[in-house]
Amino acid sequence: KPQLLIDTDPGVDDALAILMAHAHADIAGLSIAAGNVGLGHTVRNARTLVDLVGGGVPVFAGCPTPLVRGPEEDAAFVHGADGLGDVGFAEPVATAEAEQAALALLRLTRERPGELTLVALAPLTNVALALRLDPTLPQRVKRLVVMGGAVTGLGNTGKVPAEFNIGFDPEAAHVVFEAFPQFELVDWEATLRHAFDEPEFDGWLDAGDKRAEFFGQVFRTARAFNASSKRRGIIAADALAMAVAIDPSIVTRSEERHVAIELDGRLTRGATVVDWTGRLGHPANARIVLEVDQERFAAMVRRALGAA
Ligand code: BDR
Ligand code: CA
Repeated sequence: KPQLLIDTDPGVDDALAILMAHAHADIAGLSIAAGNVGLGHTVRNARTLVDLVGGGVPVFAGCPTPLVRGPEEDAAFVHGADGLGDVGFAEPVATAEAEQAALALLRLTRERPGELTLVALAPLTNVALALRLDPTLPQRVKRLVVMGGAVTGLGNTGKVPAEFNIGFDPEAAHVVFEAFPQFELVDWEATLRHAFDEPEFDGWLDAGDKRAEFFGQVFRTARAFNASSKRRGIIAADALAMAVAIDPSIVTRSEERHVAIELDGRLTRGATVVDWTGRLGHPANARIVLEVDQERFAAMVRRALGAA
């Protein structure tokens, strides 16, 4: 089974990704970022998810703000004010550890060098902090899989052609993309190509499993947002990245390229800059995932919802 360390800001699609990790892998820990909503909510949501899967997964609270500038917008309008659809869940039983997320990333990878795949489903603040404290972190990580970026500039943030996780903390993404010699990038545009058919997805939610029931509840606000923005199908960015993390053989098409993040642009702060032609002459740092096997992706999600 893959051994995963998950940096996350739950978040509705983060929740689905965590359910997938629980069904298909071992979770060494959840390090929690601010992003979709504030850190207080994302930590509590992670604890709620740990309760749902029966406990036993440590939760580490991370950095409450981006590294340099304050966040311009969160994603509460997609995920709900509390980040999980404003369902009103009871106070979770699982607690957060005292250890700071960046320190936990360093410690866990020291205890198990070369064993853990780091799955980054949130703004990269915690991972960047860990790297600044210990630049040897990449040597101890088996793989880094990042949900982030918009490789042809489509993006999903308000003002600039950026993707949310990168746009929320561009400096953190810059630090991580410079420091890791090789990572796998699942960008927003890949997500759009891998939406699920809505009636089919709803069938999985009707499976009767408590995980399906939970996801059906937390998904209501995001579904309404999807409908209002005329997006087609069920889009689950973090779930797609998680599928790649769990089983890289699911990838059917990818490109190795150098990827950097724009930090200053007048119109493009947070944009993903892919050197498609190689004109910059840097070695490729990213394997950009372009297509995965949709049937296998669907099967992973179905099982995570108890609908297999
Ligand atoms: C990413 O941003 C968040 O809103 C989602 O949880 C996902 O990680 C998609 O751009
Ligand atoms: Ca996320």
